[in-house]
Amino acid sequence: MGEYAHSFWGGDPMTKIAPSVLSADFAILGEEIAKVEPVADLLHLDVMDGHFVPNLTIGPMVVEAIHRRTRVPLDVHLMIQNPERYIGAFAQAGSTYLTVHAEVCPHLHRTIQQIREAGLKAGVALNPSTSLHAVENILDQVDLILLMSVNPGFGGQSFIPFVLKKVEELSRRLQHVSPAPELEVDGGIKLENCRDVAQAGATILVAGSAIFGAGDPRAAVQKMREQVA
Ligand code: DX5
Ligand code: ZN
Repeated sequence: MGEYAHSFWGGDPMTKIAPSVLSADFAILGEEIAKVEPVADLLHLDVMDGHFVPNLTIGPMVVEAIHRRTRVPLDVHLMIQNPERYIGAFAQAGSTYLTVHAEVCPHLHRTIQQIREAGLKAGVALNPSTSLHAVENILDQVDLILLMSVNPGFGGQSFIPFVLKKVEELSRRLQHVSPAPELEVDGGIKLENCRDVAQAGATILVAGSAIFGAGDPRAAVQKMREQVA
């Protein structure tokens, strides 16, 4: 511990890197997390329900188990219907950020408030095809906006190019918001394109397969960090 000399802790404007454990080996999850722990700003955890997205992953129990093993802040991305039902459980599990999809929140403003009342940082995610209009009215009330750059559900997909313009557009709008939420981008981020995404205005890059699919996940984070520094 005490090794976390990264942007999250230092408060400097460097782009943060959030390894997504979706591409880790779940049979040795603790070891996988230990590989990236000294270099990760956040640990990105993907929760899927088989309804909102065509895949099933982890729930609060696993988030809690991870929380017990690491001091890296947990960035929990809920790809589930009715996320408001689970805010308490994910708060208790030790989440730092809790992000819900706008597409499944008819009362998004209320849901954001509930997340903050539970003591968490509130995030809102948008699928690639969802307009930025969906978050226009709540930009000053969230801690993070997550722009999906693949259709959510699986790791290892290709970055959808038009999302880059969306990142630029949102980044421009956030210049007028104070305090500005984090602008996180998730899906298809590799060593080759991470610099473009950061230059478009992303403040947090999520990467799963590019990190845990690499022979040395820690070195993969460090290489990515060099690209976006
Ligand atoms: C996809 C998840 C992502 C996923 C990204 O639905 O939300 O967090 O882990 O994986 P890569 O980086 O492999 O595209
Ligand atoms: Zn994710």
